[in-house]
Amino acid sequence: MHPYVRRTIRATLASLEWLRITTLRVTTRIIELIVLSWLSVYYIAEALILTFTPAFLRRQKTLRGKIVLVTGGAGGVGQELALRLARQKARVVIWDNNEKALEKVREKIESEGYKVHTYPVDVTDRENVYKYADIVKSDIGHIDVLINNAGIVCGQTFLEIPDYMIEKTFKVNILSHYWTTKAFLPNMIKTGKGHIVTIGSLTGLLGTYKCTDYSASKHATIGFHESLLIELKTHGHHQIKMTLVCPYFINTGMFAGCKPRNMNMLEPKDVAKRIITAIRREEVYVTMPAFSRFVLPVKNFIPAKLNWALVYKVIQGPQSMMGMRNFQEVEAA
Ligand SMILES: NC(=O)c1ccc[n+]([C@@H]2O[C@H](COP(=O)([O-])OP(=O)(O)OC[C@H]3O[C@@H](n4cnc5c(N)ncnc54)[C@H](O)[C@@H]3O)[C@@H](O)[C@H]2O)c1
Repeated sequence: MHPYVRRTIRATLASLEWLRITTLRVTTRIIELIVLSWLSVYYIAEALILTFTPAFLRRQKTLRGKIVLVTGGAGGVGQELALRLARQKARVVIWDNNEKALEKVREKIESEGYKVHTYPVDVTDRENVYKYADIVKSDIGHIDVLINNAGIVCGQTFLEIPDYMIEKTFKVNILSHYWTTKAFLPNMIKTGKGHIVTIGSLTGLLGTYKCTDYSASKHATIGFHESLLIELKTHGHHQIKMTLVCPYFINTGMFAGCKPRNMNMLEPKDVAKRIITAIRREEVYVTMPAFSRFVLPVKNFIPAKLNWALVYKVIQGPQSMMGMRNFQEVEAA
């Protein structure tokens, strides 16, 4: 065969192969896009229907007999959680480093006729967390629901915060989540069930005055929650649920001295109730109040000068935080 003819045949075959592969790729992409569009419509419709379905009609898993661990369970929101979980017949385990408060919450729950397991655990102490995780496993069993709730706030402006308090805030508010979750997740993966709850904050979505440490640590809780959720799903662990709860100010004393301008502080019992509902409905992301999940991301679309004007003139974030007690005053009280 003439070399010119051979070259032409080879070039034609190569072009046909390119056309075949390109058509296949484009068709696959189009099919993927159609499926994704249908899924988007389905998921949005599902979310809308669930939002407007009366609470009593929504499916909620039971917590009866489930072992639920609440860190910081001797504090404001934590003890409300522990009490309400006990009333729902969950087997409640509380970890807190405040032994006096731990004793009080135990008495309170037992006075209502429920059993509760309390342990004096400092969640920043990694070895202690692993040690007590083993103790809980042998005393009670494997944890079904882990609620990472312990938290602290320092309440000072950036240059005033002592270095050790910056470290402590990160150790309690986010690093502890790594130790507790590492302690309990392996068994959840093994058994193919479990639930990890992260208590974040609206300051994890929008920084504010006297919160350079606290807000940054709460931003980190969101990264922790979202990334771990993606890892679990990627590896097929769809039955391990995760819930992130980001509340506004709560009337527990943590933000004593703050004077929110536009809304009253939330009450700890209402926050605890909402957290339990979120767990039972297996919600992934909850803000309190609910509308803040739509309002706060607006900062990403508006000019920075307008954002500051809104923060200062409308939300009045800095003005609300001016009178906040700092951690030394809290400790002395
Ligand atoms: N109070 C608010 O305005 C507010 C707002 C948004 C989010 N939150 C978050 O809600 C959660 C609960 O806060 P709260 O208002 O009930 O606070 P709280 O101070 O009433 O309770 C916190 C509990 O955590 C415990 N704790 C602190 N350090 C610990 C440690 N190293 N090891 C073990 N336990 C430790 C404390 O002893 C206390 O019992 C926190 O994560 C907090 O950041 C609070």
